[in-house]
Amino acid sequence: MTQDELKKAVGEAALAYVPEGEIIGVGTGSTANYFIDGLGAMRDRIKGAVASSEASAKRLAALGIRLYDLNEIEEMPVYVDGADEIDAAFCMIKGGGAALTREKIVSSVARRFVCIADASKKVDVLGRFPLPVEVIPLARAQAARALAALGGRPVWREGVVTDNGNIILDVHGLHITDPVKMESDINQIVGVVCNGLFARRSAEVLLLGTPDGVRTFNR
Ligand code: 5RP
Repeated sequence: MTQDELKKAVGEAALAYVPEGEIIGVGTGSTANYFIDGLGAMRDRIKGAVASSEASAKRLAALGIRLYDLNEIEEMPVYVDGADEIDAAFCMIKGGGAALTREKIVSSVARRFVCIADASKKVDVLGRFPLPVEVIPLARAQAARALAALGGRPVWREGVVTDNGNIILDVHGLHITDPVKMESDINQIVGVVCNGLFARRSAEVLLLGTPDGVRTFNR
């Protein structure tokens, strides 16, 4: 099976986690897109969705799914999204699609985070995938120096502007053995809006696409 077929398989498997009549949190990326497409087929059985990016909002709306503003909602049963890396404790690196901040905000009000990932995303230690950090444009250089002091090699993702009007620094060369601490440490840097470590709030369920089928792991 190709990586894309594995992404499709997990995206579709996640539909089983969607309760009827509810508002669902929806992630961003190529794996999440398969989930969104499946959600379109059951749009009459859900109340609607909160999107984690403008791209996902557009895709959901095109399928006739009603969109809600997160400020209208106190809690959601489930948030479904992909990841760039996920470890054994279900801590993740996210933000390859530059949507990390909204993804973290939307997922924070969900009772259950269902991570959908192909097998290549499963790692022992986070950090081989460069860690995306969303930064206020004015703070780019000084935030980069502070990230370098934490042991990484930040690279400006030139040409990319997030849905929030900010920039992304991708931090290479990290070997993240304590993701909870690293997430907090990076959040302390002035000018950092959000970082792509989802460790303080990790996933509850992992649907992993493997050549032998979709494997389900619960935390
Ligand atoms: C977007 C994300 C995505 O979930 C992550 O990059 C995985 O993407 P894909 O499903 O395309 O492999 O965090 O900001």
